[in-house]
Amino acid sequence: MLFDRVKPLDAILATAEKKGLHRTLGAFQLTMLGIGAVIGTGIFVLTSEAAQKAGPGMLFSFIVAGFVCAVAALCYSELASMVPVSGSAYTYTYAVVGELLAWMVGWALILEYAVGASAVAVGWSNHAVGLLKGLGINFPAALSNADALMAKAQLAFGAAPSADLTTALQVGGWVNLPAIIISGLVTWLLIIGTTESARVNAVLVAIKILALTLFIILTIPVMNAENFKPFLPTGGAGVFGAAASIFFAYVGFDAVSTAAEETKNPQRNVPIGLIASLSVCTIFYLLVASGAIGAIGAQPEMTAGVSLAPGSAEMAGRCASVVASGAIEPLVCSKEALVHVLDTIGWHKVGRLVGLAAVLALPSVVLMMMFGQTRVFFTMARDGLLPAKLASVHPRYRTPHVVTMVTGVGATIAAAFLPVGKLADYSNSGTLFAFLMVAVSVMVLRVINPGRHRPFRMPLVWIIAPLAIVGCLGLYISLPLTAILVLPGWGIIGLLVYFFYSRSRSYVGRGMMHGADEEEDIAPPVPGTL
Ligand code: ALA
Repeated sequence: MLFDRVKPLDAILATAEKKGLHRTLGAFQLTMLGIGAVIGTGIFVLTSEAAQKAGPGMLFSFIVAGFVCAVAALCYSELASMVPVSGSAYTYTYAVVGELLAWMVGWALILEYAVGASAVAVGWSNHAVGLLKGLGINFPAALSNADALMAKAQLAFGAAPSADLTTALQVGGWVNLPAIIISGLVTWLLIIGTTESARVNAVLVAIKILALTLFIILTIPVMNAENFKPFLPTGGAGVFGAAASIFFAYVGFDAVSTAAEETKNPQRNVPIGLIASLSVCTIFYLLVASGAIGAIGAQPEMTAGVSLAPGSAEMAGRCASVVASGAIEPLVCSKEALVHVLDTIGWHKVGRLVGLAAVLALPSVVLMMMFGQTRVFFTMARDGLLPAKLASVHPRYRTPHVVTMVTGVGATIAAAFLPVGKLADYSNSGTLFAFLMVAVSVMVLRVINPGRHRPFRMPLVWIIAPLAIVGCLGLYISLPLTAILVLPGWGIIGLLVYFFYSRSRSYVGRGMMHGADEEEDIAPPVPGTL
């Protein structure tokens, strides 16, 4: 009796009909929305982490991660065209595989969105600190990362003292203040009901595309074939490890499916928006990664033939020692990968502009992710699975301020103390689970409801959906051990909440299929869609 609670598709669609958001978005705007949500900390910052894991072989990692996202996007497309409502993977799974698994997906989406928002906030912090430095303002190291805190924690938990850890203790920081500031600011903007307009989104997308294009134009001509050797310093395992991390760079395209309710002809435009935004990003990423490797090389920092874990205190200490020795900072050590490459090949001013582009554009990615989180929480509360208080609305701003505050505080604490790579990996573990469940849902729905109209019918479903499942599992097991453990750990907490709180309060469980209708039109529209 565990998997019996399914929210009928027709009930979900009726709810969306009542909500009656204007359908204004076309394929082009959806593609812009997707690109706006996708390009962010992944390419601007995590390129160096991918290099540390795979060396030049990270080119393969970008391809593998892009491929897994492409097959997952096809699965999303079929469901989003059939169920063009918000709530994304959580809603689809509720309709297909039932409440328990939908709850688990919604719970995992907290990792994707809230922890993902923290990762992007830390990426923003790196660029803000770098930009200030370029202006001659040295932001105190003690307040720009938590490397020393992490080294102390590692030593307290029994790590063997090493030169790298000692250096991290000496030169690392204790808290990431800029990341706190940007997460706090975005939370406040969401509470007062600021959503980014389509025009602002278009400008920010243009800024990001321009920055990446400049990078490509300046680096590709100075590529040196020698910099690609050895191509696979850490072997196939390194390539998959980097793919699992750089997967973060592609996350966010599902924002397109969240906007399905506001899309004209969603059956045609949602699949186009999903696939087009992903394709554009993949092409840019491959060119940018090639330019970065070719221009300055991308060999990992090793100890005794083993590459150091990116984001670890050891790595921070090693990088500080390399820089102190007077050597040019390697790509793998950089906290602002693209800016650093341009700096190293002599384009200092353009590098600063690229840094400025990141500082301007990344807050909108934080906003999209935090918004996604509030929307999922909100939908779960609307279904009775979370306390109705969480979905309560601010009397003046008409926004779900309580969920926004909860999300903001959680994301801010994570951003204050954890390095960007770890946050991205934790976020990925949740996202991969959600993607996997979407692929399962597509197949289950083909079996249990084969006759239902499918405006976008995914081709080769019995090949593509299993490929998405295998791809998600493959990337998941390639994550670092802690990130692998985060998902079941988080899942156990989720199950406890479900069985001790949510199950007895679920509207579907109590036979109220439409949930709390009176709250339908409370959540503001998806950012970038107005
Ligand atoms: N894909 C988004 C980024 O890289 C989350 O920032």
